Amino acid sequence: MRLSEQKREIENQNIENDKNKKYKIIAVDDEIGIIDSLTVFLKHSGYTLVGCTNPYEAIEKVKNEHFDLMLLDFMMDPIHGDTVVEEIRKFNKDLYIILLTGHRSLVPPLETIKKLSIQAYCEKEDKFDQLLLLIESAFKSIEQMQTIREMNDELKSQKEMVEKAYLETIQMLRYTVEAKDSYTRGHSDRVSAYSVLIGEELGLYDKDLRVLKVGGLFHDIGKIGISDTILLKPGKLTDEEYNELKKHPAIGKQIVEKSSIFRDLTPIIYSHHERYDGNGYPMKLKGEDISFLARIVSVADAFDAMTSRRSYRDKLELDYVKDQIKQGAGSQFDPEVANKFLDILENKYEKIEEIMNKFPS
Ligand SMILES: [Fe+2]
Ligand SMILES: [Fe+2]
Repeated sequence: MRLSEQKREIENQNIENDKNKKYKIIAVDDEIGIIDSLTVFLKHSGYTLVGCTNPYEAIEKVKNEHFDLMLLDFMMDPIHGDTVVEEIRKFNKDLYIILLTGHRSLVPPLETIKKLSIQAYCEKEDKFDQLLLLIESAFKSIEQMQTIREMNDELKSQKEMVEKAYLETIQMLRYTVEAKDSYTRGHSDRVSAYSVLIGEELGLYDKDLRVLKVGGLFHDIGKIGISDTILLKPGKLTDEEYNELKKHPAIGKQIVEKSSIFRDLTPIIYSHHERYDGNGYPMKLKGEDISFLARIVSVADAFDAMTSRRSYRDKLELDYVKDQIKQGAGSQFDPEVANKFLDILENKYEKIEEIMNKFPS
């Protein structure tokens, strides 16, 4: 070998050794001779090793210091290697453990090795070359695990960013609707909260509650397309104006159905003015043909309309409102939803009050 080649080889070896130095190994063996030979052998390969002849002391060390890898003797006094692992696994699941055994026949059963998540074992009689290979592959796995962990963290933070952008988009769209129609402001928040409350009481899944929450906020988004003279008119609307206002579910549908993140809100936006008896709009859908979530929003929407002050009338009395919902069960409203809401009004009215106070009209 030429001198320059020899030099390069030494340089490469040094780089490799420096890389190895970042890992910390603890070796546990009750024979000091084994610890000594391991120390010499691994030092030569650039690894830093802490030796320990007392298994209890080793457990304490792992508790208090960071180690990447443990080389662990199996037959030891006063406790065997499997007990050491058992203790360590109670507080550390990450430590990579290679079990060193005196002889193949003394290897603990495979089941035990798997149960304690010992990653490898190696016979001490062998030359340490095999151990070196195992150590190298251990550190490769540790590095890969580290990369996977970092990627997971990265994905998690990206997911959080998407979630944040989604919520910001919702806010932005809401402000657009609210800027046009101040009545919608508190109304959307309350309809959203009442709908979620009904959904929770009906035992719906989180996924549906989330659609109810955002769908409630957006149910009147189509009002963006209705002229101000109609939306802001102080008195009652003429038939013609009312027919114009009735277009808001269809306009809303057009706005959201194009967007993949808002598409699941479409049934709420399009069908919140349908009636259970088929006399609603825009499709005159009947009963179960109306999306269940829209049937919930419909009750919340009507309740809020009745309990809010309008330019042409004051808030309606609660008893009168309850009566209207009772009468509407099975005609305007899905009876199951209406009865659940009446039950909330009767027995959990503090939850309704909480929403009214949080989003005053
Ligand atoms: Fe509406
Ligand atoms: Fe509404």
